Amino acid sequence: LPLALASLAMGYLLGSIPFGLLLTKAAGMGDIRSIGSGNIGATNVLRTGNKKLALATLLLDAFKATAAALMAAALWGPEAGLLGGFAAFIGHLFPVWLGFKGGKGVATYIGTLLGVAPGMVLVFAFLWLTVAKLSRYSSLSALVATLLIPVVLWLVGEPKAALVMAIMTVITYLKHKANIERLINGTESKIGQKG
Ligand code: G3P
Repeated sequence: LPLALASLAMGYLLGSIPFGLLLTKAAGMGDIRSIGSGNIGATNVLRTGNKKLALATLLLDAFKATAAALMAAALWGPEAGLLGGFAAFIGHLFPVWLGFKGGKGVATYIGTLLGVAPGMVLVFAFLWLTVAKLSRYSSLSALVATLLIPVVLWLVGEPKAALVMAIMTVITYLKHKANIERLINGTESKIGQKG
C-alpha cells in the first residue's frame, strides 16, 4: 500500500503540470482558458494558430504521464506503473493549482499507454488519425480511440491495463460532455478552426 500511495502522489504531481497553460503564457498569448473551448490541451492551443506550441503541449502533456508510469514501474513494478500513469491523468484533469479545473485527458491517456503498453500507441494513433481524416473533429477522434483501446487491450491479454484504461475512458467521456453535446447539435469546431 505505501508503494501504491507513492505512485499515486508522484503521478498526480507530474500530471498536474499544465503545459498548455504554461507554454502559451510564456509565449505571451495570455490565458489559453479564455480562447476557443477554454481547454488547456493541445487541441485548444492549436486554435491560437501556433502549431509548434500545440505539438509541444501534446508531447509534454503525454510525456509527463509516460514519465510517471515508467518511474513508478521502475521503482515498484508494473502495477505501480499503471497507477502512476492513472494518477498523472487524474492530475492533469483535476490539478490542485488550477482549482481542480484541468484538461480533458487525451494527451495524458496516450502518454500512459506509451508507458504501460507502448504498442497500443500505434493502435491509438491509427484510430485517431482515421477518424480525424474523415471528420476533422479532434474530440470525436479521441472519443473513438479511447473507446476501443480498452477493448483491444483486453483482446491481447492485458486485463489489468484494460481495466485501468477503461476507467480513464469513462472519465474522458465525462470531461467531453460539452464536446459530445456540440457534436450532436453540429456546432463542434473542427481541427485548427478557431472558436
Ligand atoms: O484533446 C481534447 C479534445 O478532445 C477536445 O479539445 O479544446 O476541442 O475541447 P477541445
